[in-house]
Amino acid sequence: MNVEPNHSGGHVGCGDEEPQTGNYFVATYPPFATWTPETVGAVSRLLEKPQACSDAPLGLYVHIPFCVERCQYCYYLSHAGKSLRDMDVYVDAVADEWRLYRNTPAMAGRDPSFVYFGGGTPSLLPNKTLARVMDRLQSIAPWTAAEEVCFECAPKTATGSKLSILRDNGVTRVNLGVQSFNDDVLRQNGRVHLAADVDRAYEAIRIAGFPLVNIDLIVGLVGETEASFFESVDRVIAMAPESVTIYQLEIPVNTPLCHELDAGGVDVDLISWPEKRRRLGIAFDRLEAAGYTVRSAYSAVRDEKEHTFVYQDAQYHGADLVGLGVASFSYLDGVHFQNIASDERYFEHVRGQALPIRRAYELNNDERLIREFVLQLKLGHVDVDRLRDRFCVDPLHRFADALQELQRDGEIQVDVNGVTLTRDGLLRVDRFLPMFYLPGHRDAGYA
Ligand SMILES: C[S@@+](CC[C@H](N)C(=O)[O-])C[C@H]1O[C@@H](n2cnc3c(N)ncnc32)[C@H](O)[C@@H]1O
Ligand code: SF4
Repeated sequence: MNVEPNHSGGHVGCGDEEPQTGNYFVATYPPFATWTPETVGAVSRLLEKPQACSDAPLGLYVHIPFCVERCQYCYYLSHAGKSLRDMDVYVDAVADEWRLYRNTPAMAGRDPSFVYFGGGTPSLLPNKTLARVMDRLQSIAPWTAAEEVCFECAPKTATGSKLSILRDNGVTRVNLGVQSFNDDVLRQNGRVHLAADVDRAYEAIRIAGFPLVNIDLIVGLVGETEASFFESVDRVIAMAPESVTIYQLEIPVNTPLCHELDAGGVDVDLISWPEKRRRLGIAFDRLEAAGYTVRSAYSAVRDEKEHTFVYQDAQYHGADLVGLGVASFSYLDGVHFQNIASDERYFEHVRGQALPIRRAYELNNDERLIREFVLQLKLGHVDVDRLRDRFCVDPLHRFADALQELQRDGEIQVDVNGVTLTRDGLLRVDRFLPMFYLPGHRDAGYA
């Protein structure tokens, strides 16, 4: 393997040749660092074209940047300690932003076929604010026909009354951020909940009656032991959610944990990347033994047909996405763009009837093929015939060198069905995806 990128620099530790810090997860292609303010004009041009992107399904992402406290490992844009008033003002701006899109020729009449409320902690919104934002967004474009409406919840804030509001507004999936069932591990990582809060929240979620519940865990948290991780996995299996997602801990440079490591935090107890993969591999084995099917590098589902991840799958297959709120990411008809991260400047733009876009990237046909190819590899299998039809290019020919190398290393298999990752390949897929990037993008970061 000749590509072991360290996307944004960082520590090498724990006898591991891979850097402990820096980004790991490949969110999209090309990396965010290649997106520029100069390209923002491409978005305006696109939105002026009637029905410009009408062939692809449209998704809506709503970013709620509020948390009770910041977790040690977190790199998402979110603020702790905001007032109820701040939250009200913010959600109104988000609805106003959606109205701005909806008034463009390209968006007129397009209702979202999937919706995702992410954060931050969307379940932190007070009941009234939550009901208002759902109502306002739907009065602009209804999501009654959407295939999936997903809402991220944290255990302490998933109350019965809030969950009823979600059900009444068509939420079909709840993602519950558990991370670990060990109270010491939760405390060490800055989580505000304990294991008992998870049990209470899960019961309330089940009573509210959502078709799909997903539980998130992280492997490799500070202070986690082999025993505490597998206890968490077994607790989740006993709860029998429709799906389980397990992320490998990454420590981007802007996180409190990275700062602590920089300051020489000698007591920070971390495991290596190979050890994270080993534990995740065993967790997948246990989930499979309990009847789950591994459906991506991060998740397993009880029923492959019924328990779909529409938000992820649609994007990995080229769907459009409008991201509302500070620092949100969007993708429309081959153009990536991201919103302004500063609250003040975001409000200024929306109040002035201007879309709050900070940087963008317009992909050519080859880059769109690379994007979909690498994203679909994260699902463990790429249907090359489908990509060949879409892009009029043979992916096996286009990516021949990288595929040959990965096949030799036992990470993938290539046959008439397409490209399939081995279990080892799936566990380390984000590490080798940059092999498929254009050379100028391989060292670009995801910050
Ligand atoms: C947008 S986050 C947050 C959802 C919710 N606020 C919470 O923390 O429970 C979605 C998921 O990303 C994962 N995540 C966050 N930071 C991570 C990191 N540094 N490394 C790996 N996974 C991470 C967590 O599993 C989390 O549930
Ligand atoms: S991990 Fe979740 S709860 Fe923790 S700071 Fe990040 S978004 Fe907030």
